[in-house]
Amino acid sequence: MTALVSLEELETQALDSLAAIDQATALEAWYHHHFSRERGELTLLMRRIPQVEPSERKAFGQAVNRLKVRLEEAHAARQADLRSAALSAQLEAERLDVTLPGRVLPRGRRHPLSATLERIVDVFHGLGFDLAEGPEVEDDWHNFTALNTPADHPARDMQDTFYLADGHLLRTHTSSVQIRLMESTRPPIRALMPGRVYRRDAVTSRHYPIFHQVEGLVVEPGITMGHLKGTLTVAMQALFGRDRAVRFRPSYFPFTEPSAEYDVQCICGGEGCRICSYTGWLEVGGCGMVDPSVFEAVGLDPSEVQGFAFGLGAERIAMLVHGIPDIRLLWENHERFLEQF
Ligand code: DAH
Repeated sequence: MTALVSLEELETQALDSLAAIDQATALEAWYHHHFSRERGELTLLMRRIPQVEPSERKAFGQAVNRLKVRLEEAHAARQADLRSAALSAQLEAERLDVTLPGRVLPRGRRHPLSATLERIVDVFHGLGFDLAEGPEVEDDWHNFTALNTPADHPARDMQDTFYLADGHLLRTHTSSVQIRLMESTRPPIRALMPGRVYRRDAVTSRHYPIFHQVEGLVVEPGITMGHLKGTLTVAMQALFGRDRAVRFRPSYFPFTEPSAEYDVQCICGGEGCRICSYTGWLEVGGCGMVDPSVFEAVGLDPSEVQGFAFGLGAERIAMLVHGIPDIRLLWENHERFLEQF
């Protein structure tokens, strides 16, 4: 009987101490104290069962088992309580106020020149042009001689060239890429060649010693001036607006014959304003039919293939499209300028 009484005491004590526990580590210690395999209170009681008087053994054994189950259940319940209390505390501590206003992060954007170049490439892509590239450090052959501009040719004066110590030069136009392309690719060719070019120009509101050109070249049998005019008219109207007229004026370039310059009607509708210097027209670039001597320089027979070529200045187009008054703005990259696009 004494044995059973002490079981009751043990239970009260165990449950009291369990109720006082509010830490996971203390709870673990409590469990160890009662249930450890070597010295746990309940383990020791179980071991005592065989030594109890036979007449009391059954009742004692059942009582120990009941106690064991009750303590285990109480432990599990306490453990669940502590876990949910810990979770609530964590939720409280890490609470997020979703009604607070957000923080606005400054957002980047395309540079107006990059956007213009992409737009030009896009328009000509739609007309079936592939992209081609060439080096910015060029040799005299690709930049001048093969383009029908030998050393004593007066047209070299049109472009002030940066020469490097080893005789190479910084290309003065993307027309050099035409030559590289025709040397490496057989017709039919329909290619757009964007890139940086360099000229020894003084910096002004309209000139900068580095700028971007986009060159175009189409070579295949039967190409005519009509193809050239149609292609550039469609492309310029895609860039500037369908209602803008495009005109071609006779001009001169060594590598085209005949040659022309092409203009887009000014935003003023042709009446004349400050943007077009009261001419009603905006000059965009040069173009023409590929000169037979250029075909000969790259080993093509001018009686078999014909072609047209054109060039345009990307800065100029960006300035016209966006009404940018000074080319230097495109290089200075002031945030107050860039964030307007
Ligand atoms: N390369 C000329 C320049 O930089 C522009 C040009 C004119 C390119 C006529 C052409 C062309 O392809 O046919 O001024």
